[in-house]
Amino acid sequence: MKALLTLGLLLLSATVQAKVYERCELASHLRARKLHGYFGVSLPSWVCIAYYESNYNTSAINYNPVTKSRNYGIFQISSRYWCNDGRTPRGLNICRMPCRALLQDDITQSIKCSKRVVRDPQGIRAWVACHVHCNY
Ligand SMILES: *[C@@H]1O[C@H](CO)[C@@H](O)[C@H](O)[C@H]1NC(C)=O
Repeated sequence: MKALLTLGLLLLSATVQAKVYERCELASHLRARKLHGYFGVSLPSWVCIAYYESNYNTSAINYNPVTKSRNYGIFQISSRYWCNDGRTPRGLNICRMPCRALLQDDITQSIKCSKRVVRDPQGIRAWVACHVHCNY
């Protein structure tokens, strides 16, 4: 009985916890989703962006007081332009998805929206923090 309870608690905490990717695990997911070289962005650059934006943490959320928007998930995608969180003034929701979809353990939606981000004229430069750190 006690063992069962402990197991139950372990399972519960496992479902609540954020998924934090390992570097190589992330790289292989991104490669499988054909992100390597997508609009000229190499696989190491994608991994570098995820590292500096979220530390590979799928549930990272950060508030931007200037635009009153939030950045979501492993690629820190902004509610100002890309996703809808229902509380961002003049949010555009270009990726047509709820921001919480970008916080899932499964990063399919984050990848899908990131592809849309780099297709924009400013492309990879959308990830401002990465100018400094990532070699494009
Ligand atoms: C991932 O991000 C969430 C939300 O900010 C945080 O609660 C959690 O501690 C982070 N996990 C790690 C391993 O940093």
